[in-house]
Amino acid sequence: MSASVVILPGDGIGPEVSVQACRVLETIAARIDLKLKLEEALIGGAAIDSTGGPLPAETLEMCREADAIFLGAVGGPQWADVDVDLRPEQGLLDLRRSLGLFANLRPVKTLPALAAASPLRAERLAGVDIIIVRELTGGIYFGKRGRSETEAFDTCEYSVYEIERICRIAGRLAMQRRKKVTSVDKANVLETSRLWRETATRVYKDEFPELEVEHLYIDAATMHLLSRPAEFDLMVMDNMFGDILTDEASMLAGSLGVLPSASLSVTGTGVFEPIHGSAPDIAGRGIANPCGAILSIAMLLRHALNLGDAADQVESAVRKTLESGARTADLAAVGGGESLSTSAFGDAVLAQL
Ligand code: IPM
Ligand code: MN
Repeated sequence: MSASVVILPGDGIGPEVSVQACRVLETIAARIDLKLKLEEALIGGAAIDSTGGPLPAETLEMCREADAIFLGAVGGPQWADVDVDLRPEQGLLDLRRSLGLFANLRPVKTLPALAAASPLRAERLAGVDIIIVRELTGGIYFGKRGRSETEAFDTCEYSVYEIERICRIAGRLAMQRRKKVTSVDKANVLETSRLWRETATRVYKDEFPELEVEHLYIDAATMHLLSRPAEFDLMVMDNMFGDILTDEASMLAGSLGVLPSASLSVTGTGVFEPIHGSAPDIAGRGIANPCGAILSIAMLLRHALNLGDAADQVESAVRKTLESGARTADLAAVGGGESLSTSAFGDAVLAQL
């Protein structure tokens, strides 16, 4: 079997974690006799600097042709003042939109080895295994916007079609798990959320009658996620709520640095990226945590290449590495232990693999 994968290292710590992710991908590919064609392309600030825009046509073309795409991170203070349409983040948003990647899966699992790194008490974290399904190509991130000297606006729009398709993806996933869905919205205030709740209620009642369905307002959900995290199984929500809630959820896993994600369309290629950003404060120092990136490779193997066994092997190598006590600085600070560099942590994962 062969597969073509486009690597988009991006900005900040993106390139550092991408190197480790690629080493893992190449190692597992050699093991299972997968012929890999890896190609690197520009996105974000790195693309702005060399081509003038955050998503060059050539990058988009390569991504369209690929079997899967891995992305490090985009953004940084050096591009904060450029025109909004030229910001690094816009490159990522345009990529998601152009490839129709409306379903973003963000699994959050507390490994017992990392429970001490979470600000929550360990007993609250026992059994935490959540998947957050975030709508990724609609809502306020893609609505009409504008500003004048003294005013600004962003609009949030959703169609029944957009809500139905994300609820269905979530429903299908939930059926393979604990058969429980929590749909999050702000239906007590927002019109889009009222449409969301109505549509979600209908889709689950008509098409997934076996699912237990719960609806929560986003403000309450942020609290419940901390007070009863183990009770959640699958949570589904709009673009912005999902962006916010997944950063919060990362604290259940110990560090933002350990969470992977998959952005999928119905057909075609997916983008796999750690959910941490470019972390300009630590970029270039070789101390970033590559776990989120490496676990995104596992999601790439599972979802884009249909190689579930290989994905399991990568996930278990990361778990064993953490269980052996290896820690990057973000996690070591808590236990006070010695910390490994990004590449030394990568070595440790490869050794387990
Ligand atoms: C994320 C990031 C992006 C988002 C940014 C970089 C555009 O925060 O993937 O969570 O807001 O979706
Ligand atoms: Mn985010």
